[in-house]
Amino acid sequence: MSQRTGNIKFYSGEQIPLELHKARIVQKLHLVPIERRLQALREGGFNTFKLDTKDVFLDMLTDSGTNAMSDNQLGAMMVADDAYAGSQSFVRYQKAVKEVLGKEYLLPVHQGRAAENIISKTYVKKGSIVPMNYHFTTAMAHITQYGGQIEELLYDEAYEISGKHPFKGNMNLEKLRECIEKNGKENIPYIRMEASTNLIGGQPFSIENLRGVRKIADEYGIRLVLDASLLGENAWLVKQRESEFSNSSMKEIIQTMTGLADIVYFSARKLSSAKGGGICTNDQKVFKEMEPLIPLFEGFLTYGGISVREVEAIAVGLYETLDEDMIRQSPEFIEYLVNSLEEKGVPVVTPAGVLGCHVDAMRVCSHIPQTEYPAGALAAAFYLISGIRGMERGSVSNQRDEEGNETYADMELLRLAVPRRVFTLSQIKFVIDRMVWLFENRELIGGLRFVYEPPVLRFFMGELEPINDWPEKLLAKFKEDFGESL
Ligand code: F0G
Repeated sequence: MSQRTGNIKFYSGEQIPLELHKARIVQKLHLVPIERRLQALREGGFNTFKLDTKDVFLDMLTDSGTNAMSDNQLGAMMVADDAYAGSQSFVRYQKAVKEVLGKEYLLPVHQGRAAENIISKTYVKKGSIVPMNYHFTTAMAHITQYGGQIEELLYDEAYEISGKHPFKGNMNLEKLRECIEKNGKENIPYIRMEASTNLIGGQPFSIENLRGVRKIADEYGIRLVLDASLLGENAWLVKQRESEFSNSSMKEIIQTMTGLADIVYFSARKLSSAKGGGICTNDQKVFKEMEPLIPLFEGFLTYGGISVREVEAIAVGLYETLDEDMIRQSPEFIEYLVNSLEEKGVPVVTPAGVLGCHVDAMRVCSHIPQTEYPAGALAAAFYLISGIRGMERGSVSNQRDEEGNETYADMELLRLAVPRRVFTLSQIKFVIDRMVWLFENRELIGGLRFVYEPPVLRFFMGELEPINDWPEKLLAKFKEDFGESL
């Protein structure tokens, strides 16, 4: 497996990704002093979701709704057709879904989790089991809300943080068959496959594996649902890593994947860099089963809670997903970030995936027990010493079980998202510099405990506090090493 760091050679031999775009609209950033950053952490309950962007330098919380939009997307927004019903913007959205994803019927929804709500409400009931490669927080919350349960069926290599396997997001086919036999096909409303499996570090599945899942789904007559939020990047990695597709176009790869699924849904905030979502299918019966829920929960069938301007941007963004120069930018920056940190000894998820760089908090903070949330602590510490906001993807992001017991995550990760075409290479070098410093001073990081824990999706709104005065000690060491530098 070799992933190109761009097919443009430098005379010097240096291997760095080269931007194939230029900045035409920019936004000023602020790097506030470390004392203010500590105060901001206190005000936000040591939860990076609760920081204000005025206190954030590089916002690596997510790529959701934060990818840079293209000039063509912004241009299209100006010609949107404002109409409650029958908007021509929606006609363009339908056309893009048909031409890019190969699906005839489209239901618009305001974002990805709304699609998860509609699909779960239609097909999941008490006692249902939904096998999947791995859960995403909102997908799981909606399935459990309707009384269902999930079963995660990955191969063992998916859990190896420093791994080499090119397709860690593959579903374990033997376990899938066992799961169906054990639970009975009548209790399985659908199988869910997530492209570029988010919570294990943005790791793709192969088309060979998806074909295997499809075959089993057909044998038992079970539907296959594809979460396509990160489909473009999964397709790009298929092109890099699966020899059958090395000469295929993005369109051929994408349509091979979507063609294997009965229902495809997505967060357009990720897939097409514009705020909205969709559910699409070629099965009219499936479409009709879900259709009545759209006006009830989302909005009329030709906008689904999305502004028509964003509908236009989604349509253009879908076509741009097919542009290799666009789709490669984020994975190549991530690869540079991951490889640079790995060279300096910082434990990160490998091979480099998509969405962001995932730092292994279980190893960086091996002195912090899981009961004190090592990934949450690392996220807070990293913001404190850099102004960079990442996202906890560990036990804070897990939900309690039915009896209310804490469940600990398989991996404790700090995710540093690299949204498409947002950061420059010198900013990425700053990320590396500060992370290496923190790694060398990791013993100073301490644990966290909840002071406010909401009942659902607690990571969004929860508030924590440090278990002792470790943030002050870390601040003092920063001052010692960096003086008055921000
Ligand atoms: N599925 C996947 C794989 C996702 O990554 C997300 C969102 C969703 C569904 C839900 O979509 O946010 O539009 O409602 N992921 C964001 C993230 C929140 O930061 O990774 P949404």
